This record gives sequence, structure tokens and C-alpha cells, in this order.
Amino acid sequence: MIQEPIISGKELILRINKLKKEKNAVILSHYYMSPDLQLKETAGGIADFVGDSLGLSVEAAKTTADHIIFCGVYFMAETAKILSPDKHVYIPDKEAGCSLASSITAADVNALKAKYPDTPVVAYINTYAETKAACDVCCTSRNALAIIRSIDSPEIIFVPDLYMGQNLAKQVKEETGKDLILWNGKCEVHEQFTSDMAKGLRMQYPNSEFLLHWEVPDTTVSDSLTNAGGVLGSTNDIIRYVGESSCTSFILASECDLGSTLKTMYQEKEFITPCIKCPHMKKISMLKTLEILEHIGVDKMDNFEVNLSTELIHKAYQPIKKMMEFT
Ligand code: 13P
Ligand code: SF4
Repeated sequence: MIQEPIISGKELILRINKLKKEKNAVILSHYYMSPDLQLKETAGGIADFVGDSLGLSVEAAKTTADHIIFCGVYFMAETAKILSPDKHVYIPDKEAGCSLASSITAADVNALKAKYPDTPVVAYINTYAETKAACDVCCTSRNALAIIRSIDSPEIIFVPDLYMGQNLAKQVKEETGKDLILWNGKCEVHEQFTSDMAKGLRMQYPNSEFLLHWEVPDTTVSDSLTNAGGVLGSTNDIIRYVGESSCTSFILASECDLGSTLKTMYQEKEFITPCIKCPHMKKISMLKTLEILEHIGVDKMDNFEVNLSTELIHKAYQPIKKMMEFT
């Protein structure tokens, strides 16, 4: 068996950044990536842009690079391709999926539409392109509430995240009287933040505030936030909340590596996390990123490149375009 040469982290970074320039490529990296992939080139790493799914979509739409390497999961890379159809978009591991995205198909959406005719369908960005194409408007965790509020209908279908839907539905019902019709998808990471876990952490850390992503179960939300400070919202809301809060200790109910991001941003604050990692996000590595750059212009890129038909790009773009009007 031929042994892979061992490359040091420093050598990897140097090679990636050199090839990025030679091949006119950019690297977009999600906040759930491991810390090495989240470090910007300007800070000694490789990423050109680090962000949440909405921030990365905006960046994908405006980049002038010929090649986009998306360090995130497959539905995010698909969204980048839909927003930049003339560019080459790659993902370091095409198997990087998402339990939410795989919980629903376009046929499922069409069945919902047949059951609830004339009811608008909002698709969370954590869906595959075919599913998006069957929906009316997309949203990310950051703009879901604003988009749902803006829809003039007494009932709205929200897919696929059941818990996020239940959390949104509570606020939407109180504010507008609108009802949400939900799907049974779940994030395999955020569903693990149970009420019992929240209660236990609250006893152990009575002075900490809770940071809860929309995707955690609604019972966890009520058991965490009743009589305790904190925030329920998107990744961006969580990051902003920590900056604005006078509290110095936080319990994070979201992906483990967001804890590393927060620690880098707010070094004087403490973050307690059960550290549940997204197995899909963790499929992405520096070595696989280097492999893409080495193969651009040399070999066929089928193992890495996101290829969607022109027709699918056109159809899936419509709900994404409507969402982008909210950014
Ligand atoms: P954001 O939209 O907050 O980036 O979240 C993406 C995600 O996969 C959450 O689990
Ligand atoms: Fe999907 Fe959950 Fe992973 Fe986000 S954390 S990519 S929602 S499985």
C-alpha cells in the first residue's frame, strides 16, 4: 500500500493559498466547519469568507472568482451554484448531506400543495434544489421570521424542520394570528439538545445565558428560557447576542464548532457546550480542499463539482431570488 505523504498544517495552508491565486478560486466556509477551515487567509488560514448560510449565499452571488470551493454541506453548495450558474462550484465531499434536506422531496411538497391548495410554501434553505424548485419562497434561519411575517395568508406551509417550525409558529401566531402547517423533518444535531439536558445545565451553571438555534425542540426552548436569559434565533442572532449581552458565560445549544467561533470572537467570555458535532459538516477537510485545487484545470472534477441542469437552476432560483429580496 502506498502511504500518503504527511503534509504539515502550515504546508497545507501555503499550498492551498498559492493554488487559490493561480486558479482564481475562493473558499467559502460555514461557521460549523472545524476551526482550521474557519480561519481566514488574512488571519493565517485559507478561508476568504466565513459565515452562516445566508452570508455565504450572498457572497457566492457576488464573487468574481472563476471557481468557488464551498466548505459546508451539499445543499449549501447547490445554492451557491444556483446563484452563480456560470461559475464552477465544488464541495470537498459530495457525501456531506443534511438530515433536514434528505427528509423531504419535491413529490412530498407537491402532495402538500394538493392537500392545501393556494397555501404558500416556505422552504428552509436546508433542502435540495429539486425540493426548492417546488416551493414558493426560501428562507434561512436568519430571515425565516421576516419572510413568514410578510406573507399575506392565514395559513403557510413551512418545510422541513418540525422544531424550527414549532418555534416560529409560536411567535407568528402571537404576532399575526397566522398558522403554520409543518413537516416532520429534524436536524440530527439540534434535536439532541433535550429539555433534560437544558435543565441539568441550568442547575450546573445558574448564571449562564442560553444560546439556542431555531432548530432545537420547542420544549427545550421553554425549559431553557423560562426564568433564564438568552436568545432563540439563527446562528447570526446567536453571534450578535453574545456581543450585545453583559453576561460573560453562555450555554450553547447549537453545533459544537460554533462554540470555537464564538470563543475566537469573544475571548473574554465562557462558552459551555455539550459539543454535538454535525457529522456531515465534519466530512470537509483541508486535505480534500487541497485536492480540489490541485485538480482544477488538470482532471475531470466529477467527484467534487456541483452540476445541476439549466432547467433546475432556473426553477430553484425563483424561490431563492424572492428570499434574497429580504437580505
Ligand atoms: P445557518 O442558516 O444559521 O447558517 O444554519 C445552517 C444549519 O445547517 C443549521 O443547522
Ligand atoms: Fe443539517 Fe443539522 Fe448538520 Fe445543519 S447541523 S447541516 S441542519 S444536519
